[in-house]
Amino acid sequence: MNMGMKDIVILGIETSCDETSAAVVANGRKVLSNIIASQVDLHAEYGGVVPEIASRKHVELILPVIDSALNEAGIALEDVDAVAVTYGPGLVGALLVGVTAAKAIAAALDKPLIKVHHIEGHIAANYISHPDLEPPYISLVASGGHSHIVHVKDYLDFEVLGMTRDDAAGEVFDKIARVLDLGYPGGPVIDKQAKLGNPKAIHFPRVNFTDGSYDFSFSGLKTAVINFVNTARQKGDELNIPDICASFQQAVVDVLVDHTLKAAVNLNVKKIVIAGGVASNSLLRETLQRKAKKAGMEALFPAPILCTDNAAMIAAAGYYSFLKGEFADLTLNAVPYLVIGEGHKQ
Ligand code: KG4
Ligand code: ZN
Repeated sequence: MNMGMKDIVILGIETSCDETSAAVVANGRKVLSNIIASQVDLHAEYGGVVPEIASRKHVELILPVIDSALNEAGIALEDVDAVAVTYGPGLVGALLVGVTAAKAIAAALDKPLIKVHHIEGHIAANYISHPDLEPPYISLVASGGHSHIVHVKDYLDFEVLGMTRDDAAGEVFDKIARVLDLGYPGGPVIDKQAKLGNPKAIHFPRVNFTDGSYDFSFSGLKTAVINFVNTARQKGDELNIPDICASFQQAVVDVLVDHTLKAAVNLNVKKIVIAGGVASNSLLRETLQRKAKKAGMEALFPAPILCTDNAAMIAAAGYYSFLKGEFADLTLNAVPYLVIGEGHKQ
């Protein structure tokens, strides 16, 4: 590609879970390449991610994936202005592979190193899909490990308004799929099955806290679905998989949508930005778009490929740290538990 004089080109690296990914992004919004080597098949037989297998696979894939990202972008490593890497939250052994690779490249080429919070990366995926998007907005982040409602006041200024008190939304999709023998990851297959079922067939609980909090709780819903399935199996009843999936999915989506809209109304913010693996859920997309419109708001989602883990979103988020000169040094370490917004200088 022909790059303008002032283009800032960032190499992004993401290895927080079971995707080994490297990407080249110009000016935080234009994706020149986004290579994602998924390990999903490797972990599928265990019904979830096995941390040690993930780390070992990242070690094997990280350099070839970075090479592919540079090749596809048509640039050399020397042309990169900075290296942005996910340093947390995530699986520590998995994170360390990406962090170590990024540090080695930054040190060898004497380029700035940028540390990126994984969830801030998920949110930044929207800057790629919506080139005109600017803060402030309310973001719903729902992934395999996280369910958060965040007030994004500025590119590097985040206030967490609510989060899950137990299971993450995606995690529950995965667990229910496992109980129903539908495979891993659970989200896409439940989404598909739900289209064939009746969302009102079974009433599953929706938890809303009476203290006015925006927090989520999905463990009661998870238990209710598991109990329903076990009871039916014990009685020898045939399971109506589409109805169970549709009713379960409706319960999750109702809560995600209600809490997010409540936050947007209370804070008088008109833009809602969804992020994370669960953002590719078709019912969530439809419902939020419809209800936001009715409330005079706008709901934005990333393209599906940018919803799940990828390095383009990490490079996109890293761009705003680059602009602020917020760089990490070579003592950077993986941080498995990390609060959103915590890593930024105020
Ligand atoms: O963001 P992500 O790739 O990884 C984490 O950072 O956790 O999210 C993966 C999660 C999995 O739990 C997966 O089941 C869920 O996103 N997911 C979905 C859909 N596609 C992926 N959940 C509901 N509906 C979908 N269509
Ligand atoms: Zn993620």
